[in-house]
Formats: sequence, structure tokens, C-alpha cells
Amino acid sequence: MPVILAIESSCDDTSAAICADGVILSNVIANQTIHQAYGGVVPELASRVHQQNIVPAVQQALLAAKVSKNDVTAVAFTRGPGLLGSLLVGVSFAKAFALAKNLPLIEVNHMQAHVLAHFIGDPKPSFPFLCLTVSGGHTQIVLVKDYFDMQVIGQTTDDAAGEAMDKTSKILGLPYPGGPLIDKHARSGNPDAYKFPEPQIPGFDFSFSGLKTSILYFIQNNVKLNPNFIEENLNDICASVEKRIATILLNKLKRAADEYGIKDIALAGGVSANTGLRESLLAMGNKNGWNCFIPKLEYCTDNAAMIAIAGYHKYLKGEFVGQDVAPLARMPL
Ligand code: KG4
Ligand code: ZN
Repeated sequence: MPVILAIESSCDDTSAAICADGVILSNVIANQTIHQAYGGVVPELASRVHQQNIVPAVQQALLAAKVSKNDVTAVAFTRGPGLLGSLLVGVSFAKAFALAKNLPLIEVNHMQAHVLAHFIGDPKPSFPFLCLTVSGGHTQIVLVKDYFDMQVIGQTTDDAAGEAMDKTSKILGLPYPGGPLIDKHARSGNPDAYKFPEPQIPGFDFSFSGLKTSILYFIQNNVKLNPNFIEENLNDICASVEKRIATILLNKLKRAADEYGIKDIALAGGVSANTGLRESLLAMGNKNGWNCFIPKLEYCTDNAAMIAIAGYHKYLKGEFVGQDVAPLARMPL
């Protein structure tokens, strides 16, 4: 029975998980709060905190899974894409652990792992399915033909959907990371209070930079007229922005589903934790007869459980890498 230790350190969360025979036994995530003071992730600080967090995170993951270091049969790790300094900590730890215990190493692509988070529990989507992967760094519509046969059919030409959430929250004076706060305020707001533009981008690609600029001008103009505009209307602004981001994403997803004739539709990545997006996808799915797959909240944002499940499927294929493996800041699907 393969027991996989998985490590994720691509951005600002240090995570370790244990997976035995395809079942997740533990998933420990150490969040880094240090970046809040800077309004965004500071790469140099992120790698230093990963160094402090990685050993305790692995120890906790082993303890929670009731697995000894000696029971581990392979080590999976995020090779990329991500911040190079952050990745380097996880990759170095994985290599050192594998070397010390004479274990095989499994490299995992972070964006593939977000998609494969759907294979952690039940129900699982059937191949081929479409996955809208929306995170802080990526926005992709992926045609998933098999576990490791994925094709990006649409992606952002500028900002990612998570960036649009985080930049909007910055404009509104909310702390980083803003996505969860937009979500929180939007729950008490009117999504039709304000209308923001939907960009007209050909094919299945996205653009969020125009939306960001229009939100900035909208706020600046209204604050000139009423200095308390943001405080008085925060919930409505958040609900309206959230709705626009969700409709931009889902309208493209619907076009892709129609064109490819696919009914199994999945959502993945940090922004898939967004309540409005989750509800809108389910409503669209109901209308169109889709089978919708949305990960549990703990598997939406960055986590090592998704690295473990991806690692498990690579283990079954016997796909290992050598000790000379290095992290990749950019790593295509
Ligand atoms: O996948 P993820 O954890 O990290 C990356 O790989 O980028 O995604 C992080 C992104 C951030 O932009 C964060 O603001 C956004 O996901 N996010 C949310 C929510 N939770 C996290 N955005 C909207 N609503 C949420 N509930
Ligand atoms: Zn991610």
C-alpha cells in the first residue's frame, strides 16, 4: 500500500499531507500572516517562513495520520509553478527526506493538482471534463482528458480572477488577502446595485485588468462626491464586483461546455471557495443539465492533499524523478 508524504510550498502556505492508498489521512496547512502588513505576498519573506514551518508541518501531518516516518513509501512535492524561493524550500525538503529514507520522488504540477483535488473524495468527475481553475495567479478553462492529460483551452490575458478580487479589496481599503473579505461582505449586499463592464475577449480567454480600472474610477468618482461612499455601500460594492467576476468566468465556461459538448463541469483553485461563484455555478449547472463538481473548502485554496492525490496517481504510473530535480517558477500543464 503506497503511503505518500506530500509537500506544497508554491506561494505563502506551507502544507504537508499524508495519503495512504489514495485516501487522505492528514492535510496540515500553516498560513503565513506576515504578508498582511505589506498588502500582498513578499517572496523573500515567504521563503523564510516556509523554512520555519516546513518541519513542524510535516511532523504534524505524520502525527495526525498516525504514520511513522519509516512507513512513508514515496515523497511528492510541488515543482511549480510558483515563487522560486518558496518552491525551493519544499523541493529541498522533499529531496532531503527522500535521500535520507531512500524513497522515490514524485514531482507535481501545482495547477494539475488543483484539478486533481476532485479525485480526493466522492463523487468524482468522469473524463473528459472541463475544469475552471481560478486562483491568485491563474485563471484557466482546462479540458481534462485524463489524470495527466490536460489542455488549457482558455486563460487570462492579464490579471487572474483572484488578483481581481485582491486588487478590488485593496481599492476598498480592505486587508490582504481580500478575496475572502469580498465574499463575506457580498453576502449582505445587493449584487445588482452597481453594473461593471463585461470585457469582450474572443474565444475562451479572459481579461480582468479593464474591470479593475473601471472599479478604481467608479470608486474615485463616487468618493469625490461622498467621502463616506465606501463605508456606506461596502456590502453592495462587494456583491456587485463578485457577481461581475462570477459572470465573466461562468459565461466563458458555458460557451466552452457548449462547444465541447461536455456536461461534467468542475471548479478548482482558491477563488472556487467564493460563495457567489459556487452558487452561480450550481444554478447554471441546474439550468443546463451539468454534473457540477466543487471541492470542499479545505481543498480549494493551496493544500498538500491535492499534491498527495496527484502524487498517488503518478506513483501508480511509476513516474518518478531523480535527485537532480529543480523547482520551476513557470511550469505548463
Ligand atoms: O489557489 P490559491 O490558494 O493560491 C494560488 O495558487 O494563487 O488562491 C488564492 C486566491 C487569492 O486571490 C484569494 O483572495 C482567493 O484565492 N480567494 C477567494 C476566496 N478565498 C480565497 N476569492 C474569493 N472568495 C473567497 N472566499
Ligand atoms: Zn494554488
